[in-house]
Amino acid sequence: MTDHPTSSDDATPVQDAPKDTPAAAPGDARPIVRLRGAGKAYGNVRALHGVDLSVHPGQVTCVLGDNGAGKSTLIKIISGLHQHTEGEFLIDGEAVHLSTPREALDKGIATVYQDLATVPLMPVWRNFFLGSELTKGPWPVRRLDIAAMKQTADTELRAMGIVLDDLDQPIGTLSGGQRQSVAIARAVYFGARVLILDEPTAALGVKQSGVVLKYIAAARDRGLGVIFITHNPHHAYMVGDHFSVLRLGTMELSASRADVTLEELTNHMAGGAELAALKHELAQVRGVDVAGLPEEQDLQASGAASKGTS
Ligand SMILES: Nc1ncnc2c1ncn2[C@@H]1O[C@H](COP(=O)(O)OP(=O)(O)OP(=O)(O)O)[C@@H](O)[C@H]1O
Ligand SMILES: [Mg+2]
Repeated sequence: MTDHPTSSDDATPVQDAPKDTPAAAPGDARPIVRLRGAGKAYGNVRALHGVDLSVHPGQVTCVLGDNGAGKSTLIKIISGLHQHTEGEFLIDGEAVHLSTPREALDKGIATVYQDLATVPLMPVWRNFFLGSELTKGPWPVRRLDIAAMKQTADTELRAMGIVLDDLDQPIGTLSGGQRQSVAIARAVYFGARVLILDEPTAALGVKQSGVVLKYIAAARDRGLGVIFITHNPHHAYMVGDHFSVLRLGTMELSASRADVTLEELTNHMAGGAELAALKHELAQVRGVDVAGLPEEQDLQASGAASKGTS
C-alpha cells in the first residue's frame, strides 16, 4: 500500500478531460447526473428543497453541510434509495425516478457508504468480487475462479496505485483508508461512471484521509464523476472542482473552484452567525480565551463576499 499523504500535486484541480474515456471527450459539457430544483419530504419533514447539482465526468463535486443539512438525503436520491418528491433528477439528460439502488448501479452510479459493506474475515480479493464472483467450468461443475479473481484484483488495485502486500489477508486487517480505497477501485472496475462517497474521511486521521483523497483524485483522473460528501472544507478543497454547501435542506452556496477560496468555504461551513453566538457563549466559560476568535461582522462580511461569486 502506498501510504503517502496527499502530495501538493493532488491538490491541483485537474480540469482536463480524462484521456481514456470516450464519453468525456474535450468540450463535452453534458453532466452525467443533474438535479434541478430537487427536493424530498419525509411525511411532514421537508429534508431537502430546491437543490441544483451537476456531476460531470472527470470532476469532483463536493457536497458540504452541517449535521442534518440534507447531505445523506441528497445522495440517497441519486443512489436510488429514496425518490425525490419535487423537482427533477436527470441521468444523461433523461428524467428518471429510480426505485432501487440496483437501478442506479445499472446506470453506472455506485455508492461507497461509510460502514463499507465488506466481510471483515474474508480476504481482500474475495471482498473485491463480493456478489459478482468470477467462475469457470461448465454447469454443474462450475466453480469459483480463484486465480482469475486474485489476478484481476491485484491488477485493478495496482492500476489505482494501491499496492497491498498480500491480497489473501482478511480485509478487516486493513486500515480504514485502505478499505475505502479498495471500495473505490472495486467501483471503478465494475464500470461506475459516477462514484458517491458519503463522508469517507470522517472517521480517519490526517494520513489515512490523505490516502483516501489520493484515490478520489485517481478515480476522477480515470474519468469518473465523483460526489464527495464531507464536513471538512480542507479535504473538499484538496480535490474538489465544484462545491455545494447545504444548510437546513437548501443549497446556500454552489460555486466552482475558480469562484471560491478555501477561507470562504470554511466560513460558509462554520456559519458566521453561529460561530459568533458560540463565541459569546464560550466567553461566559472561565478559562476559555475567545480574544483571538473573529467577530460576527467579519464573518458575515466574508460570507457575503463569497455569496456574490456563486
Ligand atoms: N427517514 C427519515 N424520516 C424522517 N426524517 C428524516 C429521515 N431521514 C432524514 N430525515 C431528516 O431530514 C433532515 C436531513 O437529514 P440528512 O440525514 O439528509 O442530513 P445529513 O446532512 O446527512 O446529516 P449528517 O451530517 O448528520 O449525516 C434531518 O432533519 C433529518 O432529521
Ligand atoms: Mg448523513
